[in-house]
Amino acid sequence: MPGDSTKSVHEAEPFDERTGSLTTPIYETSTFGFAKAADVPVAVAGFGEKGYTYSRWENPTVVTLEKKLAAFEHGGVGAAFSSGMAAISTAVFAFIKKGTHVLGIKDLYGGTYALLHDILPELGFGTTLVESSDFNALEGGMKKSTGIVYIESPTNPTLKLVDIQKAAKLAHSNGAVLMVDNTFASPINQNPLDFGADVVLHSMTKYINGHADLIAGAAIADKANSHKIKMMRRDFGGTLDPIPAWLILRGMKTMAIRVRQQNATAMALAEFLSTHRKVTAVNYPGLKTHPQHQLAKKQMKGFGGMLSFEIRGTTRDAMRFTESVKTATLAASLGGVETLVSQPYNMTHAQMSAKERAETGIPETLVRVSIGIEDVEDLLGDFKQALAAV
Ligand SMILES: Cc1ncc(COP(=O)(O)O)c(C=O)c1O
Repeated sequence: MPGDSTKSVHEAEPFDERTGSLTTPIYETSTFGFAKAADVPVAVAGFGEKGYTYSRWENPTVVTLEKKLAAFEHGGVGAAFSSGMAAISTAVFAFIKKGTHVLGIKDLYGGTYALLHDILPELGFGTTLVESSDFNALEGGMKKSTGIVYIESPTNPTLKLVDIQKAAKLAHSNGAVLMVDNTFASPINQNPLDFGADVVLHSMTKYINGHADLIAGAAIADKANSHKIKMMRRDFGGTLDPIPAWLILRGMKTMAIRVRQQNATAMALAEFLSTHRKVTAVNYPGLKTHPQHQLAKKQMKGFGGMLSFEIRGTTRDAMRFTESVKTATLAASLGGVETLVSQPYNMTHAQMSAKERAETGIPETLVRVSIGIEDVEDLLGDFKQALAAV
């Protein structure tokens, strides 16, 4: 088996024997022509394997990316989408029918939270969202009609973990599927399908593309489940266009080296922050003090480039920190080469009520950090001077 860096460069992208092109071509076409009328129904039924018909269904550049994604997540087939939320909503709708109950955790990305907490109930689907790090609560939330168990691990922005293997067993004991949003970890640090998950979801906007210059998403599963998702994608229409697919293929070539450096820098910064007198708490699964560090060691290959910490002081003090960084930038999103800081209470988690944020452990003094690939000494220096300004 080739290593992650070799896979990042070569997987699914063979030397093009026809033209000699070293990189995958961009097939920027909406439709595909046929020489023989008899070929048409075969191509329609083949979903790309036997030919292409229309790029909302499948496209060769996008399929190359989907093969690369499947290899990284140890799945059968990948499906690429125009955003992470398109992947998540399409995958969820592919597995619900009248009467299905959806069980999830409370600490979900804002858009997913809105889907499970507001949109599905408005459409008549029952949903239950429970405390993320309490497995008993997840067990307690199961109903006979539960068809999907939906989790993120690590969670945003509190870096809590959910035991993926136990969640998969719980889902399967009820005939449900386990969906895991693996965006925060990236496929380099965690592969939920290896622990029994059925569908892995990504905002490719983040670590997979890695350059903060496009919006895209993915769902990866075995062949049968992927087919379901691709059929729903065909009709919901959130398919990824070939140009961003090509950009992601380019971004992925450095995915392994980017993520490994981000892991190492995050660890160094988490250790530094843990001893700083202006910091009251640090959330990072790589720290021995993280309450679920043993679980992190079990299900993660690296501890990731995301961390959060609480500033000693007021909301205004935390604002002063985020305004004082110079190498880092105050911005939402994550997983790119630039280090970003944000206050979740008024950015990524502004959709939650103050009560919901308090229950989830998101005080106004919490700062979330997405580590980039700048030199660790520069980031340590930047954080030191920004904390001095608090
Ligand atoms: C964990 C997680 N999942 C899903 C999404 C949604 O992805 P997108 O913005 O690409 O639609 C995000 C976006 O920030 C996220 O952080």
